[in-house]
Amino acid sequence: MKAYKKLTTLLIFVFLVVLAGSYVRSTGSGLGCPDWPKCFGKLIPPTSVEQLPANYQELYQVNGRSIAPFSVFKTYVEYLNRLLGVLLGLYAIYYLLWSLKNRSKKTHRSLMAFLILVSISLQGVIGKLVVSRHLEVNTISIHLIMTLFIIALILYARQKEAPKNNLNFSKEEKTFFYLLTLLTFIQIFLGLKVREVTDGLLLLEESIPRSMWGLKMPLSFSIHRLVAFILLFFQFLFSLKIRHPETLKLTLLLMAEILLGFLIVISSFSSLIMPIHLLLMVIYLSKLLEIHLAIKK
Ligand code: HEM
Repeated sequence: MKAYKKLTTLLIFVFLVVLAGSYVRSTGSGLGCPDWPKCFGKLIPPTSVEQLPANYQELYQVNGRSIAPFSVFKTYVEYLNRLLGVLLGLYAIYYLLWSLKNRSKKTHRSLMAFLILVSISLQGVIGKLVVSRHLEVNTISIHLIMTLFIIALILYARQKEAPKNNLNFSKEEKTFFYLLTLLTFIQIFLGLKVREVTDGLLLLEESIPRSMWGLKMPLSFSIHRLVAFILLFFQFLFSLKIRHPETLKLTLLLMAEILLGFLIVISSFSSLIMPIHLLLMVIYLSKLLEIHLAIKK
């Protein structure tokens, strides 16, 4: 049970990093620290432009391009995100050391702890690439996919440590559930496509205000909106078929996710709401995976 609780803490750390990372993106703070792992060459970044050399925009070039004028807000948003990432890494190291002391062959505890730590470290390297490639959209998507992989690993390790609570689904229910999961992945893919457009708009924020972004949305946005309701319909059917607190939670999460999607547009792409939309998706997907792992094969 101790391992289960520690893995839950690790999962919460990952959720916090997702939230902070998304806030970095939605506020356009990705290059708030132009170097890595330090920030403007320091462990604690500067609080005013006077603390930087006069030629700092050329000195801290990213991918051959001069950086934007110093913004203390953007620098500290990115710095906080990195600090949370470091805390996550430290907790993963602590969990590995703890699992080596409290080995369990049955649950492959140490092996799982090792794999989790390796993937978190790899994610750190991808984080560096996101900065050095000047926030290139594909690298950001790989960064998110890697996050989902880390979450899946933690959930798998946690399921092995869980008190047995297998779910008995009939063949038909299983097929229905797999379809629901497939549709969720399609929806996430569409969300990433919409995000690639908002990534472009974030770079043009000076010339295209956020209140205009709704008009710039691509076809993938209309499909993303449509699929949300198809998914909700399937989710309703599923929770009617399988009356269980977990399926009810899934339905509520999905409804909240759709509401947030609309709020993003209504609020003119508020940088506070975009991260919550992403976080809820991650929690919804984690719940789906948790059920997958609990289904009796
Ligand atoms: C079924 C529910 C939904 C899921 C699972 C979902 C998932 C996602 C994902 C994964 C992203 C990419 C976010 C990122 O990488 O930061 C995204 C972006 C987005 N979604 Fe959804 N979405 C859902 C419903 C909706 C609805 C109903 C709307 C609007 C009516 C909407 C509007 C948007 C917008 C505007 C973005 C771009 C925001 C950004 O760049 O952060 N979504 N969505």
